[in-house]
Amino acid sequence: MRPHLLLLLALCGAGSAAGARSYSLRGRWTVRSGNGSLELPGQVPGCVHSALLQQGLIQDPYYRFNDLNYRWISLDNWTYSKKFEIPFDFSKWQKVNLIFEGVDTVSKVLFNEVTIGETDNMFSTYGFDVSGLVGAANSVELRFQSAVLAAAQRSRAHAGPPPLPACPPREQKGECHVNFLRKEQCSFSWDWGPSFPTQGIWKDVRIEAYNICHLNYFTFSPVYDNGTKEWHLEIQSSFDVVSSKPVGGQVTVAIPKLQTQWTYKIELQPGERIVELSVKINENITVETWWPHGHGNQTGYNMTILFELDGGLNIEKSAKVYFRTVELIQEPIKGSPGLSFYFKINGFPIFLKGSNWVPADSFQDRVTSDVLRLLLQSVVDANMNTLRVWGGGIYEQDEFYELCDELGIMVWQDFMFACALYPTDQGFIDSVRAEVAYQIRRLKSHPSVIIWGGNNENEAALSMDWYHINFTYLQTYMDDYVTLYVKNIREIVLAGDKSRPFIPSSPTNGAETIAEHWISKNPNSKYFGDVHFYDYISDCWNWKIFPKARFASEYGYQSWPSFSTLEKVSSKEDWSFNSKFALHRQHHANGNNQMLNQARFHFKLPESTDPLREFKDTIYLTQVTQAQCVKTETEFYLRSRSEIVEQQGHTMGALYWQLNDIWQAPSWASLEYGGKWKMLHYFARHFFAPLLPVGFEDQSVFYVYVVSDLHSSQTVALTVRVHAWSSLQPRCERVSPGVEAGAGRAVRAFAEPVEALLRCAGCSRERCLLSFHLSAGRERVGPLNYHFLSSPKDAVGLRKANITAIISQEGGTFIFDLHTSAVAPFVWLDVGSIPGRFSDNGFLMTEERRRVLFYPWKRTSKSELEQSFHVTSLRDIY
Ligand SMILES: *[C@@H]1O[C@H](CO)[C@@H](O)[C@H](O)[C@H]1NC(C)=O
Ligand SMILES: *[C@@H]1O[C@H](CO)[C@@H](O)[C@H](O)[C@H]1NC(C)=O
Ligand SMILES: *[C@@H]1O[C@H](CO)[C@@H](O)[C@H](O)[C@H]1NC(C)=O
Ligand SMILES: *[C@@H]1O[C@H](CO)[C@@H](O)[C@H](O)[C@H]1NC(C)=O
Ligand SMILES: *[C@@H]1O[C@H](CO)[C@@H](O)[C@H](O)[C@H]1NC(C)=O
Ligand SMILES: *[C@@H]1O[C@H](CO)[C@@H](O)[C@H](O)[C@H]1NC(C)=O
Ligand SMILES: *[C@@H]1O[C@H](CO)[C@@H](O)[C@H](O)[C@H]1NC(C)=O
Ligand SMILES: *[C@@H]1O[C@H](CO)[C@@H](O)[C@H](O)[C@H]1NC(C)=O
Repeated sequence: MRPHLLLLLALCGAGSAAGARSYSLRGRWTVRSGNGSLELPGQVPGCVHSALLQQGLIQDPYYRFNDLNYRWISLDNWTYSKKFEIPFDFSKWQKVNLIFEGVDTVSKVLFNEVTIGETDNMFSTYGFDVSGLVGAANSVELRFQSAVLAAAQRSRAHAGPPPLPACPPREQKGECHVNFLRKEQCSFSWDWGPSFPTQGIWKDVRIEAYNICHLNYFTFSPVYDNGTKEWHLEIQSSFDVVSSKPVGGQVTVAIPKLQTQWTYKIELQPGERIVELSVKINENITVETWWPHGHGNQTGYNMTILFELDGGLNIEKSAKVYFRTVELIQEPIKGSPGLSFYFKINGFPIFLKGSNWVPADSFQDRVTSDVLRLLLQSVVDANMNTLRVWGGGIYEQDEFYELCDELGIMVWQDFMFACALYPTDQGFIDSVRAEVAYQIRRLKSHPSVIIWGGNNENEAALSMDWYHINFTYLQTYMDDYVTLYVKNIREIVLAGDKSRPFIPSSPTNGAETIAEHWISKNPNSKYFGDVHFYDYISDCWNWKIFPKARFASEYGYQSWPSFSTLEKVSSKEDWSFNSKFALHRQHHANGNNQMLNQARFHFKLPESTDPLREFKDTIYLTQVTQAQCVKTETEFYLRSRSEIVEQQGHTMGALYWQLNDIWQAPSWASLEYGGKWKMLHYFARHFFAPLLPVGFEDQSVFYVYVVSDLHSSQTVALTVRVHAWSSLQPRCERVSPGVEAGAGRAVRAFAEPVEALLRCAGCSRERCLLSFHLSAGRERVGPLNYHFLSSPKDAVGLRKANITAIISQEGGTFIFDLHTSAVAPFVWLDVGSIPGRFSDNGFLMTEERRRVLFYPWKRTSKSELEQSFHVTSLRDIY
């Protein structure tokens, strides 16, 4: 505690009341089409599409082909307007501002019919001084320009080599030139999402009136001084001092739970002022750090900041402060060229497990806190600890980051640039600078955000020439790249945030990219930085196709969402894999065929005479294929953690593409639109478990590695069983007691020729499969895992299983007691559109009975579940 003595200062601003008033302009506005033929009420925050839907003027935009039918909405220029009276005497206030937290995107702003400014960056805030215009009755109007037309206009006006690509691939049914606008890039379509270039006021709007001075914002982040072993809490506050004289006073920062409080004297000169405080937390105060999910508690502290200023002006703010350090370690590795690439949190190396986040809806006003909570809870429920907020979407809402703090989800935060080369004219750069500075100060207090990334795949796009650049201009494009991400974005990040690292792109080579002047020849190198890896052609069960890289930040395979999800946006004629609808929703070239080709490597395709059954079975099979592919690839990364093989390895991150869906369509996601878990998400819960046995074959030897994310080593037993497809009794068992599951390591625990295991079971590859698990005492620890010795399509003795369930209820949970008549792989329990998730699903049943729980997300009943319940296992589809 270090209280400062107060100096008495003369009061300033005498005569006018101190303080500030705020008046919200949320709620009902009027929305008008370009020529006035449509006029309707619209909610703010919101967008035109949502307003039209709420008034019943359009159907669900996601229904069938409505993305094409409703293209006219985004091609029109809409106007948002509102008339209002301020319920307090505005004449008493020296300054009145009109504040927009988010405008989407290109608009001219009028206040009482006077143009006060323009907007063209969805990711910035805008504040307009309306002191001289405000009256008793007021009007505010935003005249939007169609984002699609604005982008085209900017493209036409652009001099010099054009930002590329001009247009998205045909399959995406999208709009062109999105890279000219600071707007959600995927709103012009993506290979998993529709084109809905919205217009509207998508965040808060308000009037702020004040005297003397006003706190515009305050932001903070704790920084650890590794020399003195002290935390420094860096606090930055921005004031608008409208008083003509300096304003003095004091600021008190208090963290009650640490029983500490600091008081500093401040003096603010007239004008826009920034006050920087560095609060040192005494080395003798024990601060509990924030940990990622699975590694410790997410301890945070309530903090208050009280400014007591001249004229009786008191401004109090509270916030939650969390203490954690993050380091990105890039250092030489013995036996391998290149550098490591991994994160230490609080000095502790952590394997990043998780996925990539895309916007949860095309219409952000539908992304409520319930939607976010459901999705993010599903992240930790699947044992993930990281999400990468991908650069083609949006900087998420505050609540997203608050939930990530609370749940222990680390965030790799991209800046919103993706898969394109961007303009660098001064107007664009200025807009980006304001955006970046704003987002840094908005997000930097969140411990969940552990790294800033400049863009998604733009380094790779340049060095691998994705856009067939005219060689004459190559150097210009490279210079533009450095200008945008290094000389502007990086510079602002380094100046504004000392509490987390910055990398210019993903994939990138980290230190090596810098050494190669910011554009590596191969940013996807296995020896440096992170990689993105996609291969839809090769057999994904062959782990040798995957890169033994330092960090895999994107990889994945597509599947279709469940029938209950598709049913909501389609009609009967759409329900086949070759329908116009099925093709329309597939935005990735040849995607539907790729899924079937991948499935054919190991499975028989569905063969039902009932077309609807065949469609449902095909959906099921795409989910099986996706789950099995991503499992194989992720387990490969996990087991590569502690070894160097052929100079490669030390993998410390696996973030598959992608977590969530923006609409109901085939994609790489493991969570469907609406939150339903695909089979992959249940698999992720297993393969991201803190303690996991991973099995694989190399040259006909079967190996098991034990992968541990625990902080202490454990001795466990490993059991490997050989099962015949034809029998519910295991044929042979190997138990290795005393397996050391090394803390934070992947260690080899088992190796035996497949031949020997088969001999033990009196079996052949086609007739048998392996299961394996870890146990401590009598308890199984970690998931039951399995390994196929042949493709299930060649399995001998695999029979149709009669799987039945007896459902009962216990409190808010439902119990499914399952019984099977035969060994059944990929047992899929489905309760249609009843929201909720099972404790496990998509599993292998090698025993007669199994108990699975169902956690409903909304009230339901045993009889509802019984009516909706359907079970499928692999042998049911052919
Ligand atoms: C107004 O604009 C809409 C949409 O562009 C168009 O369909 C309609 O014909 C126009 N009406 C008039 C009166 O110009
Ligand atoms: C929208 O505004 C642009 C100019 O900004 C104009 O060229 C276009 O015709 C307008 N579109 C409609 C539908 O009014
Ligand atoms: C921390 O405690 C030690 C032992 O009581 C004391 O010597 C030291 O001065 C304290 N440090 C500070 C910064 O108060
Ligand atoms: C986490 O919090 C619990 C309950 O408050 C406490 O018992 C435990 O020691 C904490 N763990 C760590 C690693 O701080
Ligand atoms: C911290 O602040 C939150 C929000 O103001 C409040 O709900 C909570 O009770 C506070 N916690 C403590 C320990 O004071
Ligand atoms: C502090 O310094 C030590 C030694 O240089 C280093 O190993 C450790 O990772 C650093 N910790 C942090 C939080 O920076
Ligand atoms: C590349 O640009 C130059 C200069 O504008 C032009 O002369 C040339 O034809 C272009 N080359 C190609 C292959 O388009
Ligand atoms: C499946 O098993 C249930 C109960 O075990 C039995 O009632 C039913 O007849 C069986 N169905 C078939 C097709 O064998």
